[in-house]
Amino acid sequence: MQIPRLHPDTIEEVKQRADIVDVVSEYVVLRKRGKDFVGLCPFHDEKSPSFTVSQTKQMYYCFGCQAGGNAIKFVMDVGKRSFAEVVLDLARRYQVPVQTLEPEQRQELQRQLSLREQLYEVLASTAQFYQHALRQSAGQKALQYLKSDRILKEETIQQFGLGYAPAGWETVYRYLVDSKHYPVQLVEKAGLIKPRKEGGGYYDVFRDRLMIPIRDIQGRVIGFGGRTLTDEQPKYLNSPETELFSKGKTLFALDHAKSGISQFDQAVVVEGYFDAIALHAAGINNVVASLGTALSLDQVRLVLRYTDSKQLVLNFDADNAGTNAASRAIGEIAELAYMGEVQLKILNIPDGKDADEYLHNHSPEDYRQLLINAPLWLNWQIDQILKDRDLKQPTDFQQVTQSIVKLLKNIVNKDTQNYYISYCAEILSLGDSRLIPLRVENLLTQISPANNTSQPIQIKKKWENNKASQATVTTSDRGLLERAEGLLLRIYLHCPEQRQTILNALEERDLQFSLSHHRFLWQKIIELTIEQVDLISNLQDRYLELAEDLNLVSHLFHLNEKNKKDIMRTPQVVQAAIACMERVMREKRYRHFLELWQETDPEAEPERWQSYYQAFYNEKLQLQELDRQRQFSITDLV
Ligand code: CTP
Ligand code: MN
Repeated sequence: MQIPRLHPDTIEEVKQRADIVDVVSEYVVLRKRGKDFVGLCPFHDEKSPSFTVSQTKQMYYCFGCQAGGNAIKFVMDVGKRSFAEVVLDLARRYQVPVQTLEPEQRQELQRQLSLREQLYEVLASTAQFYQHALRQSAGQKALQYLKSDRILKEETIQQFGLGYAPAGWETVYRYLVDSKHYPVQLVEKAGLIKPRKEGGGYYDVFRDRLMIPIRDIQGRVIGFGGRTLTDEQPKYLNSPETELFSKGKTLFALDHAKSGISQFDQAVVVEGYFDAIALHAAGINNVVASLGTALSLDQVRLVLRYTDSKQLVLNFDADNAGTNAASRAIGEIAELAYMGEVQLKILNIPDGKDADEYLHNHSPEDYRQLLINAPLWLNWQIDQILKDRDLKQPTDFQQVTQSIVKLLKNIVNKDTQNYYISYCAEILSLGDSRLIPLRVENLLTQISPANNTSQPIQIKKKWENNKASQATVTTSDRGLLERAEGLLLRIYLHCPEQRQTILNALEERDLQFSLSHHRFLWQKIIELTIEQVDLISNLQDRYLELAEDLNLVSHLFHLNEKNKKDIMRTPQVVQAAIACMERVMREKRYRHFLELWQETDPEAEPERWQSYYQAFYNEKLQLQELDRQRQFSITDLV
């Protein structure tokens, strides 16, 4: 849905009227503690409440997972929705008149909003119609199919709202348009009927099919999957893309699975509707189904929100062509996995069965065991590389090594990469442990950047931006900088009286924030004026529209007990943080000049050689001085 730009007055008024305690209470059971409210954080799994809501500040913050913000941000994150969508929603709930920047867009907006509402209604009504039809005589064979072929209990049929689309060409049409008086265009927009090519009129999209409602996270029907009960093709027919339904952004059964996913801290993705239904019926309810396409990043992000440790198991069919559906299904997730942002495991059920078939003669515990034993994606890929290969044959050995090198190059995390280098070296040593060091050496040479003719594709691009600005920030510097810069920003945000000091110090010493998310926040801060009392609230508003970037710095907007203590000692802390940033910068310069000096020929360019020497030596002296000045280490502080 194209949402027009909202008038700032509307946003402001929504913030005034939508009380945070009220808004959050819809999702979280809140208890009063002191002047704040506390509850179990909806963004991560926890046993004791660390999620706090402050009515006076109109903000929430979780001390466990650092999620935080105002009422709008909360609804955005809980429902995975856009800023404008949430503001509109709250506006409606709290009766705030909506003004858009362009008055003529206003009408369009109201129209779109009510269109969505109406679509939900039509679809809910249709789902009921199908459910009812399943119990009529025409639905007998469908019901029979569910009970005998699929061995589903009444309870499961109810839980998933399964139904039957009767065989006529205009059954749903007549029900929705003639009896319920829904406008034809609306029913068409819901993806339920199509205009006839000739002779005018409409016909039903789903005819004589078993109907599976597809729901959004909140459990509202947004589309249908229909399975044929005959040999008719296609076997499955899905709703077309509509205002409410987008195949690539939806996961079947997520509404039923979300609590199971957070409980097990793991999400299982299967291919088929009936695989998901069968698993839920067997009590394994951390399961969703992709809708027959490669998993998209959107879909993965959607499920990962419910697992803290980001564990994802893909249970896709192993097809007979030898290539595996799983590798196709992984699609865009590969990148996340190489960067270590998702712990991906692959489950191929023995004998090429799908989960539904497997459960016909195995217990739920057996399936749980398969989940536990499923290999990590990297191990699974190595298995695939080794499949049907004989490492004693020179060509096989060479080809396997090449594939392994390619795979290892893609692993971004150094520790993980090292682990897999040893792991593969061992495999390539064929049981002769004396060969391992040689193989390690070999792999290392082949994956070293100097040897890099074909860099991994997308991964590199993503990191380039960051790299350019931090070419020489080493990993240990990073941790230190993360804390020092973060501390400085936090003080700037929370202690208005320190702002001028900080500005001066940064300017005097010509210091920049080195980490890109900090630089980004700083940029936003200096765009606002220094006198701004409401700096944090103002920043949050700006950030809401850039939700992605906020995550890395949002913790700075809040103070816990430890932060408060640090801030009590501000002048020293500011000094230490600045010294720390200066140290990192000088260290960089020192290394830079040292390198230049080493590269310069003293015979050919004596003056230049001398000036580089002076420069790096100066930096060294400054560094020593700085270390003396830093009375206490920043690491003790933060
Ligand atoms: N699918 C789809 N459109 C198709 C075929 C399949 O959307 N034309 C999706 C459905 O979600 C389906 C899943 O892909 O549940 C798996 O389909 P398939 O491989 O055909 O699964 P089977 O196990 O063969 O189906 P069933 O168990 O219903 O016989
Ligand atoms: Mn199946």
